Amino acid sequence: MEGWKSKAPLRVGILLSGRGSNFLAIARNINEGRLPNVEIAIVLSNVAGASGVQAARDLNLPTAVFVSKGRPRAEHDADLIACLREHKVNLVCLAGYMRLLSPGFIAAFPSRILNIHPSLLPAFPGLDAQQQAFDYGVKIAGCTVHFVDEHLDHGAIILQRTIPVLDTDDAHTLAERILVEEHIAYSEAIARVASGDYEIKGRRYVRRIS
Ligand code: GAR
Repeated sequence: MEGWKSKAPLRVGILLSGRGSNFLAIARNINEGRLPNVEIAIVLSNVAGASGVQAARDLNLPTAVFVSKGRPRAEHDADLIACLREHKVNLVCLAGYMRLLSPGFIAAFPSRILNIHPSLLPAFPGLDAQQQAFDYGVKIAGCTVHFVDEHLDHGAIILQRTIPVLDTDDAHTLAERILVEEHIAYSEAIARVASGDYEIKGRRYVRRIS
């Protein structure tokens, strides 16, 4: 698969469930001109009262909440797809979106969904990745930005950033320092996708030398 070729802006739809610090880092980079030709089209949440949604409203960005609790996944995701299409989204960024996507959602945006995960995948997928890494005793930790496929924390990796685990760390300080790297990594990955200068060969994201 080849990368984004259009000169039209990349219209990002953010999906979040919580505080939205990764979303805010992306928004800051856009506002400060570090992600030219990228705009946030809509911020969506599956959780009523997610503070990331309020943060988006404070930035005058369009927002919508579709509460997922108790709803069949496919039915909930159909609402998300319709909303993202209505806002002409061509790249979906999961930013702390803590719900699995349905196969129908993934098919609706083929190779156009990114996720950030706070571990060096394939190690420690799933919940509490930083705690898992700390408990395991790894000496290098970090974060991964990857394309989303139908498996949890699994698609082709765009980039990873690493930090050493310090003897003085606990799971909390480790998570804090990983988050600093996340805030850099996500925008860099979006910039790479926006450039279109890449191919996905099997599981491998490969940059094209121009
Ligand atoms: C981030 O650490 C992100 O990597 C993680 O949730 C946090 C959201 O924080 N995502 C996952 O664990 C997905 N498997 P944020 O709301 O401040 O961006």
